Amino acid sequence: MDLLRTIKERRSIRAFHPEKEIPTAELDQLLEAAIWAPSAGNVQPWKFYVISDQRLKEALVRAAYGQSFIAEAPVVLAVCVEINEASMSYGTRGATLYCIQDTAAAIQNILLLAHALGLGSCWVGAFEESEAASALGCPRGQRPIAIIPIGYPAEQASAPPRKALKHVVIRR
Ligand SMILES: Cc1cc2nc3c(=O)[nH]c(=O)nc-3n(C[C@H](O)[C@H](O)[C@H](O)COP(=O)(O)O)c2cc1C
Repeated sequence: MDLLRTIKERRSIRAFHPEKEIPTAELDQLLEAAIWAPSAGNVQPWKFYVISDQRLKEALVRAAYGQSFIAEAPVVLAVCVEINEASMSYGTRGATLYCIQDTAAAIQNILLLAHALGLGSCWVGAFEESEAASALGCPRGQRPIAIIPIGYPAEQASAPPRKALKHVVIRR
């Protein structure tokens, strides 16, 4: 699959076959894709939780305002950031901007490779941060950025429309 096609055909998937496990080699590839994302100054301030425990998934559903599809996925990744690592190198800009961008790039790598491997995933950002952190057992200074349920898709999602290039591209 060529890259632009993968980018365009990736969809947020919110229904999974819970019993169809993801092969370990593929899960490892997703994590590998994540760590090869760019990061400011190559600081790599990310941490990735790999969650298969059903009770923890249910706790994440509660933290995410009842988004129950999270618990349907055989594996859930939680992408977190070490704020101190980011601020040590770049101060406030590192802590408030770069580390968010770093993890966003890692998240996108995961979503794209998941799609290329025939898996479905969804970037879940709507959650009560302190509740998610405490469910995950994040140490102080570690902030959850995204919850990503991953599994074999049990739905075919249609593409939400994009704004036309002419409305978002500014040429000078
Ligand atoms: C920062 C961010 C937060 C998101 N949070 C949620 C979420 O909490 N729940 C959800 O179902 N989808 C969430 N999404 C997925 C978007 O709804 C989805 O990407 C968008 O509607 C476009 O659809 P597509 O991913 O199929 O192209 C989030 C996406 C991003 C980038």
